[in-house]
Amino acid sequence: MAEQHKIVLDESEMPTRWYNIVPDLPAPPPPPLHPGTHEPVGPADLAPLFPMDLILQEVSGDSYIDIPDEVLDVYRLWRPSPLYRAHRLEKALGTPARIYYKYEGVSPAGSHKPNTAVPQAYYNAKAGMRRLTTETGAGQWGTALALACTLFGLECEVWQVGASYDQKPYRRLMIETFGATVHRSPSPLTESGRAALAGHPDHPGSLGIAISEAVEAAAGSADTNYALGSVLNHVLMHQTIIGEEALLQLAKVGDTPNVIVGCTGGGSNFAGLAFPFLREKMAGRIDPVIRAVEPASCPSLTRGVYAYDFGDTAGLTPLLKMHTLGHDFIPDPIHAGGLRYHGMAPLISHIYELGLMEAVAIPQTECFDAALRFARSEGIVPAPEPTHALAETIREAARCTETGEEKVILTALCGHGHFDMAAYGAYLDGTMRDELVSEERLAVALQGVPAGL
Ligand SMILES: Cc1ncc(COP(=O)(O)O)c(C=O)c1O
Repeated sequence: MAEQHKIVLDESEMPTRWYNIVPDLPAPPPPPLHPGTHEPVGPADLAPLFPMDLILQEVSGDSYIDIPDEVLDVYRLWRPSPLYRAHRLEKALGTPARIYYKYEGVSPAGSHKPNTAVPQAYYNAKAGMRRLTTETGAGQWGTALALACTLFGLECEVWQVGASYDQKPYRRLMIETFGATVHRSPSPLTESGRAALAGHPDHPGSLGIAISEAVEAAAGSADTNYALGSVLNHVLMHQTIIGEEALLQLAKVGDTPNVIVGCTGGGSNFAGLAFPFLREKMAGRIDPVIRAVEPASCPSLTRGVYAYDFGDTAGLTPLLKMHTLGHDFIPDPIHAGGLRYHGMAPLISHIYELGLMEAVAIPQTECFDAALRFARSEGIVPAPEPTHALAETIREAARCTETGEEKVILTALCGHGHFDMAAYGAYLDGTMRDELVSEERLAVALQGVPAGL
């Protein structure tokens, strides 16, 4: 019988609810704190930046939230996304493992990011906003929000991390094609940007600085809100449609994952794939190992501290209890721009502390080696971010080759790399280096974490 590569769902089988993991956890996550009073933030504190529908989702105690029809209608432009069985990669590796990948590169932006951009634009438009501001690292999030804004009649202004702005002119043009305005961050347009530029005119930027700029621009304008592409509870929840679909798809072929692997920047694609499976694990129905993979050059889960810290560099956001390298930490300009974030989603940090998941950090040359093996067997050029998940998938498959175990490995191929070919160029011509973080540099950065909270 011919091998089945793609497991697809009909549009009518697409899940119609997002999953909120919070009520199922054995302990609630610590609340965000107001940066001035250090008291837990309430809905009113978040109202200058977010519409009430999203604030209520952020603090919701409901296990499921219905996806609005207007959002489902846009999702159906590319969803349900395919689940692939990586037969060709398995053969190339000579592994007895069965490898599956959920492919989000089929979205118009080329990644999982529209899964939350679309509802965020929808709820903001419903609340009467005129404009949204945001940051973007890899450019995937900026593209996703630009698309979502144009579909719901909103203006969109994007601060793109300098290193990514310089490396990826076509990402910027794609964002502009969807009608948004793009600034290189740090920019002279905001106080946070001017502070970063002082004495450092070629600053490579960071997600933390770009967030400060976008938050500052939104806070100063009544008809403008801010949208975040990762980290917050509601963003992670919007991504759970990935895992909900994957559960249905694996059930169609009668397989159950033993290992689930996803890359983590702020944590949204990892959460999107893993949380529905974690629900099944906590209910005792399955027992997979769930493993996050981060870059060795930005190792918040594996080498950061678990503490209250700011989500941005300028200290404008609420204090979040998370694994952090310190909000002043400026990661080396590694090619996986979407993983250059000093912190980790509070929900993922909490789940990691509860011992419900594992984490590893992998240097980028091993990731690009994995990407080439993947591209040359499966035919898809991955975005630099999920190459981290692929590297760990290949490590796990190699362990199966040694032991002879036929484990089922599920991973998230959360984007394609069509705009990231400069990174592939650096790998192919041998100029890519592994930028590791020294103990000294880490110690200096961690001094920036607020004490005594
Ligand atoms: C393709 C892709 N994967 C992963 C990430 C990392 O973000 P998150 O951890 O929220 O999924 C990004 C961020 O820009 C991205 O573009």
